[in-house]
Amino acid sequence: MTDVEGDIALKFDVASVRSEFPILGTTVRGVPLCYLDNGATTQKPLCVIETIDSYYKSSNSNIHRGVHHLSQVATELYENARATVRRFINAASDKEIIFTRGTTESINLVASSFGNRFISQGDEILITEMEHHSNIVPWQLLCERTGAILKVANVHPDGTVDIEDFKRLLSTKTKIVSVVHVSNSLGTINPIKDIIDVAHQVGAKVFIDGAQAVAHIEVDVQELDCDFYVFSGHKLYAPTGIGVLYGKEEILNAMPPYQGGGDMILSVSFDKTIYNELPAKFEAGTPHIAGAIGLATAIDYLLGIGIANAAQHEHMLLDYATNAMRGIPQVQLVGTAPNKSAVLSFTLKGIHPHDVGSLLDRDGIAIRAGHLCTQPILRKFGVHAVNRASFAIYNTIEEVDRLIASVQNVIRIFA
Ligand code: ALA
Repeated sequence: MTDVEGDIALKFDVASVRSEFPILGTTVRGVPLCYLDNGATTQKPLCVIETIDSYYKSSNSNIHRGVHHLSQVATELYENARATVRRFINAASDKEIIFTRGTTESINLVASSFGNRFISQGDEILITEMEHHSNIVPWQLLCERTGAILKVANVHPDGTVDIEDFKRLLSTKTKIVSVVHVSNSLGTINPIKDIIDVAHQVGAKVFIDGAQAVAHIEVDVQELDCDFYVFSGHKLYAPTGIGVLYGKEEILNAMPPYQGGGDMILSVSFDKTIYNELPAKFEAGTPHIAGAIGLATAIDYLLGIGIANAAQHEHMLLDYATNAMRGIPQVQLVGTAPNKSAVLSFTLKGIHPHDVGSLLDRDGIAIRAGHLCTQPILRKFGVHAVNRASFAIYNTIEEVDRLIASVQNVIRIFA
């Protein structure tokens, strides 16, 4: 254990955390895996893997439909998972928790359903320059369909939102404000409570993309007073293919269904179909039952560690890595906001990020290389692609040292 790690070891035992993640004991190209691509997806602890395994071995059935024992067991597990998610973000009711495939589907659901019902020509939708493509394109599609106008708030060179520009663009024409909680490329933690309050003053609904936030920041949707909050399971130590849309009950009730099919109806006839109550109204078809149950296990696991403890550990890694990177003259950091999550994006002068990523891979180090699904903000920073290390609860100082040594080696190779 290093001195830095020792400071927080009483609260957080990283070796014990690592032992819960089987994949971290594997090797890549003959060296121990150093997994630093947690912004893309996190690894899964044994408890999540075993929950899914056990579900398929002993409880698999379809939900809400069967009178038989297994269907009732599966339904109870699925609905208990919903209650776990509700407690996790402190929603007022289980009806406000919609299971989706992930953040992207949650955004598309709202842009489509809320958008088609409540947005019309001349209305405005306000986002920021740092949004992920999934929080840009669905709104562009909505604007194309309706004649609404997409407004984009400026981002400062350090990666913080220009709040004055944001306020300037906000008006009674603004019907939706959609903002990322934590930027996947810059790491910026946005002041979403302030954004929500100021947007509500003009009557706009506020949508928060929490994909990069929920594993690192405690979220209380009632305290925030956001109208929508969405996230994916797989960045939260849970399986892929499961995500969450939180929406205020009265707003979800006013929205039409997103997809039609089984489970979202009370009755169907050729004359008139009556839609189901929340949350089933938005969950057409057989959902990812095992995924929802796995998500609940992941949430319980993370809460067992404590989000504050996890965040403190990750910040320690971020500070250590940032200081080391600042000491390398060829490194340019992208995203230097004072309030950051554990995301470290950078470029190396004269070396393409894909080359950096490939050479680090030879050392068993997994980082992301590319545009990170955020082309507009990277363009603003004058680059087409970056490298990104993103830290999770199981990463260590030794792994950061490996990252730095490997980056220095890449620089030597290209010198
Ligand atoms: N949006 C994910 C990332 O930032 C995939 O890597």
